[in-house]
Amino acid sequence: MARYFYFGVKNLLFVTSIFCGIAFGQSSAAQEMNPLAADPRAVRVGGSLFRAQCATCHGADAKGIEDIEAPDLTLMYLRDGVTDASVFQIIREGIPGSIMPPHTFSDAEVWTLVSYLRSAGIVGTSTTIEGNTERGLLLFNNNCAQCHRVGVRGGSLGPDLSSITNRRSQDALINSIRNPSATISRRYKPVTLIFQNDGIIHGTIKSEDAFSIQIMDSNQVLRGFRKSLLQEVIYGELSLMPSFPASVLSDGDINDVLNFLQSTRQ
Ligand code: HEC
Ligand code: HEC
Repeated sequence: MARYFYFGVKNLLFVTSIFCGIAFGQSSAAQEMNPLAADPRAVRVGGSLFRAQCATCHGADAKGIEDIEAPDLTLMYLRDGVTDASVFQIIREGIPGSIMPPHTFSDAEVWTLVSYLRSAGIVGTSTTIEGNTERGLLLFNNNCAQCHRVGVRGGSLGPDLSSITNRRSQDALINSIRNPSATISRRYKPVTLIFQNDGIIHGTIKSEDAFSIQIMDSNQVLRGFRKSLLQEVIYGELSLMPSFPASVLSDGDINDVLNFLQSTRQ
């Protein structure tokens, strides 16, 4: 019962009520479709359950935690053969031979988790983003290319944006530009290294273990260090990407950039 303390009484009542609905309805063992798919409350309830039960391994945003090697769950629906029913099965039974545990939740609770993961799941931008491609290219070259590659050109402090619209919704992309620190991509976590001689380097963590750390520094050079040579490793919360408020890039400017990025996808 301990999890209901995190979970909240309102959520519990909701789960209880939908559980009765399911119990009196179709048998759930053979259920292929998420019976809560159309219910927006399920996403919210599943989100709280996820943060209480799954976030220690998969991260609060479901994007995975590198050290634990728990996968990014926002990408799984992009793979062939992954369905709500298969995700239900994994949550219920766990993955034998890995640390992904089985769970004894009620069916209704598992379905709320499925609803949440489905909503957090990455869907590309299916519609064409209205904008001016030429202008977008210009804005991209002036504001973004120093850090981001598109095709064969551009920097590599940030991720390659060539086919990013296949993997991210328009809203998610706008959010990344307006507010980069809200969700920081894996392998781009900011870090500051302080050396014994007081030297300082900023960069993003590419890999790390107990004895060493590999980073891309802010000059976009990959560098590895033994931790014994460091005075301190400071993990940052602020993305190395500056945020672009409306005073710098208007909504129209952003749509131009996104239209340009969409024109480059494979
Ligand atoms: C103790 C750590 C841990 C916890 C807690 C945990 N997971 Fe996992 N999970 C993993 C790992 C590790 C894997 C990858 C296992 C493998 O493929 O070998 C995984 C895999 C998965 C997968 C399959 C991903 C894919 O790409 O196919 C799903 C779905 C999933 N977890 C959902 C959940 C949900 C929902 C919860 C909470 C109810 C949860 N997990 C709790 C560690 C955990
Ligand atoms: C100083 C370097 C820098 C500049 C300039 C910069 N970015 Fe970034 N960007 C990053 C870094 C580092 C990340 C990864 C960390 C994060 O997610 O915030 C990132 C992440 C992103 C992401 C998220 C990618 C994903 O996988 O979800 C998008 C989208 C993005 N940038 C677009 C832009 C656009 C568009 C511009 C120009 C308007 C821009 N960036 C300018 C460094 C930069």
